[in-house]
Amino acid sequence: MAIDHVLTDGRGPLLQTHDLTKAYGGLLVTDHVSLTLEAGARHAVLGPNGAGKSTLVGLLSGVVESDSGKIMLMGRDITRTASAARVRHGLVRTFQISNLFPRLTVLDNVLVAVCQRKGGSYRLLRSVSGHRDYLDSAEGVLEQLGLIDDRWKLAEELAYGRQRLLEMAIALSLHPKVLLLDEPAAGVPGSETGVIIDAMEKLPRDIAILTIEHDMNVVRRFATSVTILAAGRIMVSGAVHDIMASEDVRALYLGRSGHARFAKSSST
Ligand SMILES: Nc1ncnc2c1ncn2[C@@H]1O[C@H](COP(=O)(O)OP(=O)(O)OP(=O)(O)O)[C@@H](O)[C@H]1O
Ligand SMILES: [Mg+2]
Repeated sequence: MAIDHVLTDGRGPLLQTHDLTKAYGGLLVTDHVSLTLEAGARHAVLGPNGAGKSTLVGLLSGVVESDSGKIMLMGRDITRTASAARVRHGLVRTFQISNLFPRLTVLDNVLVAVCQRKGGSYRLLRSVSGHRDYLDSAEGVLEQLGLIDDRWKLAEELAYGRQRLLEMAIALSLHPKVLLLDEPAAGVPGSETGVIIDAMEKLPRDIAILTIEHDMNVVRRFATSVTILAAGRIMVSGAVHDIMASEDVRALYLGRSGHARFAKSSST
């Protein structure tokens, strides 16, 4: 899949996969997936439950090991690179299920990530009053996502929508060049999803974003390009307005209302 219409900065693609493939037993979950993300990409991956969306994010982030195919990050082959090293190279993800330290404060959750990025020790940070730059960095990200007033709360005390925002803050504090979001609004009550979309829209433009999303309204608002996965394969991919306008896609996936028939978020 070549996403030709997304912003290009002349330095070539940020992230590219070539024939990426993964099977669990006899079940082909990722079937020769080739995709390209350029700088500034706002790309949504859609597909029914079990289509292989989370597995794709797992393969990209290094949590799942591919059987064959290649993953390139800024021209570097990272197919066999450990996930922590991928993060250091600028490839960062969030999870479909919340992945926070519930008993740490909001600020500390971000500080752990800042320490990870800067190679410092979080334990040491607690005993040293200095490290103003670590704090500045963490507070800057919390400010950016509207979480600064919550910084002394425990993560578990936040409403679920704000917990998802905190995950985004943690990801941002790792200074991603490519950010992978696995259903950022999964499990979030309708009344809180607006906050998540607002935050997504405010993410720095130079970060390429691939998000898994079930909600068509979010896709229309946020994404400029879309891939539809089914049974591990790319069914169709292209500019969001072309995909939404395609009679085939509408007939197969969107129903008359334009809402995805598979628009059922799961928390698995
Ligand atoms: N570790 C695993 N072992 C065996 N099968 C797995 C494993 N992880 C995922 N699968 C299977 O791979 C298929 C794709 O799963 P995946 O979680 O990638 O789908 P998804 O598109 O993210 O679905 P959802 O919309 O429900 O989040 C499913 O059939 C799932 O049961
Ligand atoms: Mg999933």
